[in-house]
Amino acid sequence: MLAGKTVLLGVSGGIAAYKAVAVCSQLVQRGAEVHVLMTSAATRFVTPLTFQAISGHPVLTDLLTEQHYGHVDHVHLAHRADLMVIAPATANLLARLAAGQADDPVTALALAVRCPVLVAPAMEPNMYAHPATQANIARLRQYGYHILEPAEGRMASGRYGKGRLPEPEAIVAAAMDLLRPRDLEGRRVLVTAGPTREPLDPVRFLSNRSTGKMGYAIARAAAARGAEVVLVSGPTALPDPPGVEIVRVESALEMHREVMARADWLEVAVGAAAVADWRPAVYHEQKMKKQDGPLVVELVRNPDIMADLGARKRPGQVLVAFAAETTDLDSHARQKLTSKNADLVVANDVTEPGSGFGTDTNRVRIYHRDGREEALPLLTKDEVADAILDRVAALLAGGNR
Ligand code: PMT
Repeated sequence: MLAGKTVLLGVSGGIAAYKAVAVCSQLVQRGAEVHVLMTSAATRFVTPLTFQAISGHPVLTDLLTEQHYGHVDHVHLAHRADLMVIAPATANLLARLAAGQADDPVTALALAVRCPVLVAPAMEPNMYAHPATQANIARLRQYGYHILEPAEGRMASGRYGKGRLPEPEAIVAAAMDLLRPRDLEGRRVLVTAGPTREPLDPVRFLSNRSTGKMGYAIARAAAARGAEVVLVSGPTALPDPPGVEIVRVESALEMHREVMARADWLEVAVGAAAVADWRPAVYHEQKMKKQDGPLVVELVRNPDIMADLGARKRPGQVLVAFAAETTDLDSHARQKLTSKNADLVVANDVTEPGSGFGTDTNRVRIYHRDGREEALPLLTKDEVADAILDRVAALLAGGNR
């Protein structure tokens, strides 16, 4: 996603500056050309040489003495930037940004760029909660800066509270959100994600290996592309994707109820959940006691959520089913196009290393209604999400009749 993009990374002088090194590294690994700008206080925490080695570019630490690009550095970089990320942003830096000052490379570039700017504040909880800091943040929002809320937890001082710089992965994910096209603006998208749990008694259930990563990536990407997103999620350990309404469920029956209640509302449905096909026929109100010999549990079929959506699909709606297969990917995926009345089937071989359950990557084949089939390379689940949504956006734009 970041290939060919120029990202400016502004670092100010707080202890969390060390995390900016990982942010820089992850941006570079995702293909971005990264230029780092530091306040003089930041250089007391991390040396410019560290950022230079990781980014492969000179680091701007002084507006007046350094001219790496042959003419005024901050103007040159400002014109090239696709995105600016400021992490960490100290209370002092927020105040100077809010006042429109431009007395160091970070504040000067923040004024000079016309690209989206993501600001990640990090400071002691009392400083963060202070009305002056909050007023500065409110003003920055008015100016159009995107604020990434600090996390709660243990601070460098040993205190607990809200003020920690979010982890580098979260900063990079928020940065990438800002570069996504807004081609799903106002579209109503429902995504299912995660496993379902089919209860046997109060302590036992049948479930599967889905972690929700694939579905959450789709929900997040759709929201970042402007859609109104409802994520119907089975039990997962994932943080809520920003800008998404989450409906939490446990069983397939609950997921079926929540999805079907929105069948008329949605314009796009993506079924990334691993829904249990069967549930125990009998739910035991009390914990089942151990017994000698084998236990036979009778299972009954669960409703097929995507097939039920497909059966009442109206013109203009786009349905995307997944197919998790261990053999005969091709024939099973094509069969699901028909049985679910889907527009696209995204098939993954869950036995392939790096694909399927629990991984951060996935290799998928996308089957279209018109018979086309695309084999995508191994991608991150974020990239797979965008690849699916590119095709959804094209179907919506074409009227999907
Ligand atoms: O969650 P992760 O750890 O990131 O793993 C991702 C994933 C492997 C779960 C995901 O990529 C995936 O393949 N999801 C679909 C899993 C699945 O249940 O596949 P299926 O081939 O059994 O089902 C086909 C389609 O019908 C799916 O869209 C499924 O959501 C839907 N379905 C299935 C059964 C059912 N009762 N109702 C349904 O709606």
